[in-house]
Amino acid sequence: MSAKLKAGVIGLGILGSQHVRFLDEQPEVSVEAVADIRSEAADKVGAQVGAQAYTDYGRMLAEHRLDIVAIATPDPLHLDPVLATLNAGVPSIILEKPLATTVADAETMYEAAEKAGARVFINFANRGSALDQATYYVIQQGLLGEIVYGDVHLDDNIVVPTLMWGARSQEWAAGSSTAHFLMSHGSDYLRWVLAPADVTEVFAISQRKVLGFTPDLYDAFLTFDSGAKFRMRAEWIKHIDGLVEFKLAFSGSQGYLAYIKRPGFGELEGWRANVRSDLTTAEHLDHHQKLLTLGVNIRALIHRPSPTAGELVAGGGALARGFETFENPLDWWRVGRGFIDALLADPLTPSSWTEWGPLPTIVDGLRQTQIVCAIVESAETGRVIDCAP
Ligand SMILES: NC(=O)c1ccc[n+]([C@@H]2O[C@H](COP(=O)([O-])OP(=O)(O)OC[C@H]3O[C@@H](n4cnc5c(N)ncnc54)[C@H](O)[C@@H]3O)[C@@H](O)[C@H]2O)c1
Repeated sequence: MSAKLKAGVIGLGILGSQHVRFLDEQPEVSVEAVADIRSEAADKVGAQVGAQAYTDYGRMLAEHRLDIVAIATPDPLHLDPVLATLNAGVPSIILEKPLATTVADAETMYEAAEKAGARVFINFANRGSALDQATYYVIQQGLLGEIVYGDVHLDDNIVVPTLMWGARSQEWAAGSSTAHFLMSHGSDYLRWVLAPADVTEVFAISQRKVLGFTPDLYDAFLTFDSGAKFRMRAEWIKHIDGLVEFKLAFSGSQGYLAYIKRPGFGELEGWRANVRSDLTTAEHLDHHQKLLTLGVNIRALIHRPSPTAGELVAGGGALARGFETFENPLDWWRVGRGFIDALLADPLTPSSWTEWGPLPTIVDGLRQTQIVCAIVESAETGRVIDCAP
């Protein structure tokens, strides 16, 4: 393709301004127009990249023939800009997660995108960093055996719901929750790495003692059709030093994976997979080569686990195999780059993305919304909620 893809961006806050910067940096893309109801945001971001600024995205869509529109309005406000963009005939959308905060909104967007024949990618950016892809690889290759249990803890500092969006923070957080804002990541991540398994039912609790305007936290248990059970937790009341803590663990029938993606107090970021002991050394090293291509200095380990009891006396226990690294380069826009590659090459799985499963689309967004809304319903009713696909 010789001409550049013409892009527009709707919603120019924290994430939308990053979308503008990201798209502007892609050599095949030209950011033509941006829109935000806050004129100061539209003018500032538009001036940064030489794009026409609008306060009304309807006018922007009418006056520009865009190839792609990125949408990053607040969580409950995705429906209208998505429908307007589809109605304007834009063939491709990159939409921020969560797809929606209600199943009705999610279904409406899904049906409209199907009818329009448009591609709608959801920016589940947590699929993109090297160690997320290493996690996908190790699980999909069966190196942990059958996945039976695990947990995903993604918590924000209390400043997120109280201060991060300035004077708009309480209203913003009240329109969302840790379920929609944070568990959208975890629910998509689990469906991605455990595919083709999917969630069939959820049970959850919430707590409302601190914030008042939105639940303090959700704590959920997910059952998959593979039989795997996962715990997923997300808090908005943590008085921590960092902004985010993010930890994942996977227990398989023959191995264990721990990924400390954003560490908490006293923790090191790092990734360790203790894999099946029946791998041959040649197989172990083949997988090691593959993991090294991710661009992280992953080590292949053959070692004796620390002696604890019984036969595991010092120097005497069976050898165990694994992989580990303490490097964790977070690449927030690798999934975004996959979207651009897909737009240029057409298929949903462009050559830059063949190893890591399909890129996240509105189908994944619909499932994510169904799962998260089931978590909210379970916490409100005290019942186990069926959410099979
Ligand atoms: N991918 C990620 O990991 C990630 C991280 C953080 C946030 N997000 C998501 O990105 C989205 C945006 O979050 P944010 O933190 O940037 O919020 P934000 O409030 O900073 O930005 C949203 C912007 O949308 C604008 N807006 C609202 N209604 C509009 C309308 N009708 N027309 C045009 N503009 C409108 C607001 O004025 C604001 O500037 C949310 O869905 C959020 O969950 C994703």
